[in-house]
Amino acid sequence: MKKILLLLALGVFISACTGKTDKTSQSMIEEEPLDPGKGYSEIKHVPLNDPLNAFMVSRGKTLYEMKCASCHVLDDPKVIGPGWKGVTERRSPEWIMNMITNVNIMLATDPTAQALLKDCLVRMPAENISVGDARDILEFMYANDGKPVGK
Ligand code: HEC
Repeated sequence: MKKILLLLALGVFISACTGKTDKTSQSMIEEEPLDPGKGYSEIKHVPLNDPLNAFMVSRGKTLYEMKCASCHVLDDPKVIGPGWKGVTERRSPEWIMNMITNVNIMLATDPTAQALLKDCLVRMPAENISVGDARDILEFMYANDGKPVGK
């Protein structure tokens, strides 16, 4: 049984960089001891805004353009890293923020991040993004995935 799960998980991971990794892989991984659903790092809980905060979205967009756009597009295809379309559906907000603020810890400990690395072949660089900046980028990601933005 374990072997079958592993094979299934690998199958899902192979498509990771195409943006097709989904909740199936998440739920399988949740049987691991590390709590990969949120990522094994300092961000434990992220309260979300509904509707989104327009100021944070626009700050997040600027940060994205300056620091992330060289490797991540806003729709599907992989450039160097995975496209961001649907990222807020395939990952928890805590996981995303941990990935942005502590990518080295995530790549060392988190099976989902490790699977992405295997597929993308390039390590996402640690750029010293503050928790506040990461939160604004997350807000922008939700806007990019079509969540309504407030005034
Ligand atoms: C030099 C290229 C590069 C830059 C710049 C970069 N990333 Fe990445 N990113 C990657 C790669 C490659 C991965 C896949 C994991 C790996 O291979 O390390 C990734 C993965 C991610 C993921 C997980 C995506 C998913 O589908 O689960 C998030 C979230 C992310 N990056 C956010 C950011 C943010 C935010 C920035 C800007 C502050 C950024 N990245 C800048 C290359 C980059």
